[in-house]
Amino acid sequence: MPVHDELPLTEQSTPTDAQTLLHPSPHADRLAESHVPKGLNSAVITGTGFYMPEKVLTNADLEKMVDTSDEWIIERTGIKERRIARPEQAASDLALEAARRALNDAHTRPSELDLILVATVTGDMLFPSTACLLQDRLGAPKVGAMDVSAGCTGFIYALDTARQHIATGAARTVLVVGVEVLSRITDWTDRGTCVLLGDGSGAAVVKQSEHKHVGIVAGVLGADGSRGVDLYMPGGGSRHPATEETLRKRMHYLKMNGNAIFKVAVRSMAQTVTQLLDKIGAKPEDIKLLIPHQANLRIIEAVAKQLHFSMDRVFVNIQKYANTSSATTIIALDEARKTGLIGPGDLTMLVAFGAGLTWGGVAIRW
Ligand code: UT7
Repeated sequence: MPVHDELPLTEQSTPTDAQTLLHPSPHADRLAESHVPKGLNSAVITGTGFYMPEKVLTNADLEKMVDTSDEWIIERTGIKERRIARPEQAASDLALEAARRALNDAHTRPSELDLILVATVTGDMLFPSTACLLQDRLGAPKVGAMDVSAGCTGFIYALDTARQHIATGAARTVLVVGVEVLSRITDWTDRGTCVLLGDGSGAAVVKQSEHKHVGIVAGVLGADGSRGVDLYMPGGGSRHPATEETLRKRMHYLKMNGNAIFKVAVRSMAQTVTQLLDKIGAKPEDIKLLIPHQANLRIIEAVAKQLHFSMDRVFVNIQKYANTSSATTIIALDEARKTGLIGPGDLTMLVAFGAGLTWGGVAIRW
């Protein structure tokens, strides 16, 4: 597998047109009172929720399945346990639970939705999209519904897409879900990956708001497709449709070059935070809470170190749920909100990295 040492992130993480419109000058005065130019709308998260399957798989359980140890997993990853969906549960089932909780939290009825976005790489099936299945299960109107595939950065890609739809007036109320049933694409004989992954779902309701000083104030998205083979599932698509051979070669499982990804994860997430700060004219000390993708505690600590952040301003829940890919950041955001770590006026950032390779972040003023 190719190993690239340098990622020209600054060149590749160019803002989209609407992002530029929202933030015309990256050197604007710090935290200007209104971040939304005339004619564009503010996008505010009004509710969040998450759902975890009940079944807990501990490190001790994994010791009985592969050649690993509780000590190795905790020391190298920070993970103690993860959740596993019931056999009959698919992505749309997990998504439905999280979506209902987020809608309740936002005091919003499904009938008010006018766009549904689901970030996932483990949808119920290749098509129809899990977003369409969710629309039906929620009894939502026949509005646009689509899946977003950006690996672990999926929720951030979807959230920024929601922001753009709201900014331009194309949508007023958007449901954004991050959901994974990674246990279905985990090779339970590969100790290099199976100890890292878990199932779960999270959701957010994003609404158009009159309050222009709050909301999702900036977004950064980036990708480097040349690194796709560092984290991928080779079988099951049009390149390698399912055959006896693809099954024999275990091509329907997630493959990862963990060492190579580690370095890119740290660099891309740290650079994304710096780019977001630059876009909104803020300083690192203005961030109340950084909510990073939960892939490995050592990655999170390295990002914090690069940014000169103390860990008490960085949210971590990887010990309970492991890496749930596109669901981690929204699950973490919901936990942070519900435990009172985020209050009115606070600036938070979600930042992630994943298959693609992709990376991205959003800055949120509450
Ligand atoms: O969600 C986004 C995508 N994923 C990531 O961002 C993950 C990024 N990568 C990582 O988190 C880390 O690279 C891993 C956790 C995957 C691996 O940690 P590491 O410290 O980079 O370990 P390593 O791959 O360098 O392996 C060290 C040793 C090896 O043994 P030898 O060659 O030194 O004898 C591995 O075979 O640890 C061994 N090893 C294990 N030992 C016990 C690998 N996996 C395990 C295991 N239990 N589960």
